Amino acid sequence: MNIAIIGAGNVGRALAGASVRAGHIVTISSAHPENACTVADDVGAQAAASNSAAAAAADVVVLAILYGTIVDVLDEIGDGLRGKIVVDVTNPLTDDYSGLAVVGTSAAEQIQARVSGARVVKAFNTALAARQADPQIEGTQLDGFVAGDDADAKAVVLELVKSIGFRPIDAGPLAMARALEALALLNITLQIRNHWSWQSGWKLVGLTATA
Ligand SMILES: NC(=O)c1ccc[n+]([C@@H]2O[C@H](COP(=O)([O-])OP(=O)(O)OC[C@H]3O[C@@H](n4cnc5c(N)ncnc54)[C@H](OP(=O)(O)O)[C@@H]3O)[C@@H](O)[C@H]2O)c1
Repeated sequence: MNIAIIGAGNVGRALAGASVRAGHIVTISSAHPENACTVADDVGAQAAASNSAAAAAADVVVLAILYGTIVDVLDEIGDGLRGKIVVDVTNPLTDDYSGLAVVGTSAAEQIQARVSGARVVKAFNTALAARQADPQIEGTQLDGFVAGDDADAKAVVLELVKSIGFRPIDAGPLAMARALEALALLNITLQIRNHWSWQSGWKLVGLTATA
């Protein structure tokens, strides 16, 4: 796949590295282009001089930026996202990490509403950056939950999730991003309360089909 990653922080670096290792072509951009260059050099991706340039050549655009910067970035590149698959990795945390800053909706649904021509899919947000870089713990493959309303877009993202090492799980329509963002909040809360090392991840056990 031809993937643009907007943001070169913890998540941008982790997903860029994992995607390159999986054989994808990755272009990365960030607020400070030198940061995108550093990450691109480190992981074997390409750096773009702007978010628009990164998104232009990609089929899949990953938003690996803080929730608070989403509006600015979508104002900047929203027109260029028409028809593209947009992967929302954000968790809309309050400033003190005590809860979610959205009520009765999700970051993913808000993004979809702002870029109606794009096909927004929620993915990767339940995995901490360390696990995005390496979705296996002692041989256990973590779950990669994917939610979206466009079946074709979701199928592509499930394939992406699988390619970098997660067990892909179709979590349903984009509205299920509300649950996925809450699931991420729970993991973050547990890290803080228990002084854990930001390495754990979600795995649903006991999956059996009924028919
Ligand atoms: N960290 C995790 O374990 C984790 C796990 C799952 C989901 N998430 C979610 O993923 C998102 C990113 O988290 P993070 O930990 O990677 O954050 P981070 O380390 O703070 O990185 C944020 C990145 O956003 C970039 N950025 C800011 N404004 C931008 C703009 N206008 N255009 C392009 N790039 C811009 C920054 O660029 P510069 O580097 O140039 O300043 C930086 O690279 C958040 O929404 C978070 O909730 C995080």
